[in-house]
This record gives sequence, C-alpha cells and structure tokens, in this order.
Amino acid sequence: MQITITTLPGDGIGPEVTGQAVRVLETCAEIFGRQLKATEKNVGGAALVASNDPLPQDTLDACLASDAVLLGAVGGPAFDKYPAKLRPEAGLLRLRKELGVFANLRPAVCLPGMESLSPLRPEIVRGTDVMIVRELLGGVYFGARSTEGDSGSRRATDSMTYSEPEIERIAHVAFKIAQGRRKQLLSVDKANVLDSSRLWRDVVTRVGASYPDVKLSHAYVDSTAMALVSRPATFDVIVTENMFGDILSDQAGAVVGSLGLLPSASVGGKGGLYEPVHGSAPDIAGQGIANPLGAILSAAMMLRHSFQLEAEAASIENAVKQVLAQGHRTRDLSEQGALSVSTPQMGDLVLKQLRNVAVRK
Ligand code: IPM
Ligand code: MG
Repeated sequence: MQITITTLPGDGIGPEVTGQAVRVLETCAEIFGRQLKATEKNVGGAALVASNDPLPQDTLDACLASDAVLLGAVGGPAFDKYPAKLRPEAGLLRLRKELGVFANLRPAVCLPGMESLSPLRPEIVRGTDVMIVRELLGGVYFGARSTEGDSGSRRATDSMTYSEPEIERIAHVAFKIAQGRRKQLLSVDKANVLDSSRLWRDVVTRVGASYPDVKLSHAYVDSTAMALVSRPATFDVIVTENMFGDILSDQAGAVVGSLGLLPSASVGGKGGLYEPVHGSAPDIAGQGIANPLGAILSAAMMLRHSFQLEAEAASIENAVKQVLAQGHRTRDLSEQGALSVSTPQMGDLVLKQLRNVAVRK
C-alpha cells in the first residue's frame, strides 16, 4: 500500500514537531512494509513570506492530490498586523474548506500516571478520556461577515448559520465514533438562546433515532464548560458546532494539562487533515524543546482515519505511551526542576520503542 501525504510544517515550532512525526511515519512504514511518499509544502506565515499567500496554489494542489495532509502549526506575532485575508489562519481555514473536512476530532486523554500535569486535583482528572467532535466548516466561522460605518460608529457582524444537511453529516460522524467507544454522546448547543442551536438539537435528535445503541443527551455550552472542569472523567463523546468546539477543545486540553500531547484529525471530505492541537508557540520556536508527541499522535490518527491502518496507528500510540511511562518528558510536561529531553531526543525514544515492538512482531 502506498501512503501518499503532503506535509505542511508551517510556522513556529511546526517544522520541528512535523519533522519528528515524519521520521516516525517513515519507520512505521518500513516496519509494516508500506510505501510512504511525503511531499513538503509551505503554508501559513512561511508561505506568506515566500509568496504572499498563506495557502499558495501549489500547496493546495499537492494537498488535493494526496490522501492526507499532516500540518504543524500556523501563525505568529509577525503576522498580527496583516489584513484578515492575508493572515496565516486564513490559509488554514481555506485549506479546511477546500479539503471539505467538516468533522474535527479532538481527543483529550489523561493517561495513567499523568494526572499531576492537570491543574485539577488528580482524583478529578483521573480517567478522563473525552472525544470532542467539532463541526469545522459551518457556523460563525463561515457565515456572512461585515464591518460598516465610519470610525466611532462602526458596526461589525458575524453570523452563525447552520443547515440541516450540515448538522446531519456531523451528527452521523459523532454517533459512529460513540458506537466505537462507550456509547455516550453529548450534543452541546445554546438552544435556550440561538435559533441555529434549536435546529442543531432537533436534527441531532432525529439522527439519533438511527443509533439506538448510543445514549444521546443534550446540554448548553455554558454548563458544559463548567462540567468539563468539575467532572471531566464523566464525558465520552461531545458533538458541537464550530466555535463552541474550538473553545471546549482548548478547555479539555487544559484540563488534562498536556496540550503538547494532543492530536487532532479533520475528516469527512476528501482525504484528511491532521494537526497537533497546540499552536505555533513562537516563544519556544527553534530551541529544540517543543513537544513532538502531539504531531506524532496526529500521524497515528492519520494512519487510522485516512488509511484504515489500525495496527500501525496503535503501534505508534503504544510507543508514545511506553516512552511516557518510562518517565521521559519534554519541557512542557516535566515537573519543576526535572530533567527533560529535547524534541529530537523525544523522536528518537519513540522510534526506539517502535522498533522494539517490531522485533516482537
Ligand atoms: C484551532 C485554531 C484555529 C480555529 C485558528 C488558528 C483559526 O484555534 O484549530 O482550534 O479557530 O479553528
Ligand atoms: Mg482553537
């Protein structure tokens, strides 16, 4: 089997973490006898600097021609003053749209022994394993937007719009994911205020009739935000609209205390887009201290969701768990004063574990 992917290292720590993820993919492909073809392209600020476009045509063409895309991160303070259409983030939003990836899967897991990373008490965070399914191509991110009037009396509008088919397709993805987990799906909205949320609740309920084995419940986004910090371990799968999902997934990342470990997959359209949840972290870029595990785990999600290579994905995830269980930590995960490993050292450790598994195979 040929695994054809495009890698978009992007900005900040993106190139460092993507580099390690590609090494892991290469080794995994070699162990399992697969052909990996990875083509690297520019995106975000890196592309803006090179060609004044955060998503150059040549990058988009490469992404559309490959089976999956592995992205590092985009954005940085150097681009804060750029007009909206020329911001690195605009390139990412356009890429999501062009790839048609409407379902963003963001797992937040507290691995055994990692409870102390959470700002919450260990007994509260222990066992947390939540999958946030965020709608990625609708809502306020893509609704009509405008700014009118003159300085002093300007008026700006962003509209949150959802159609029934948009809600239906994300609901199906979420129910199917719940079927493969603990079969509890929480749909999050603001149906006490927003029309788009009332439609959301209606449609998700209707879709639920086809999944009688999944227990569906509904909650408002504000109370969910509260419950996520007070009883995070009680959640299984959460499905929600674009902006609520953006916010709740950062919160879930903070709850498990290891943003650097969190992967994400954006699927549903042509191919898939895989990226660590952490951003470009410009403050630590280029120092070799970034945590590559979020990118490495994103590569595992890619093998699972875009190539149905479950054994390969699981072998990477197990290698990461082993390395963490042995006590190796990048700086973001290490306790005060503890020794930590560099970005490439962490990559080496994962490769070593992967090869150990291969020997036992
Ligand atoms: C994310 C990010 C993006 C988003 C930004 C960079 C546009 O926050 O992937 O969560 O809001 O979707
Ligand atoms: Mg976000």
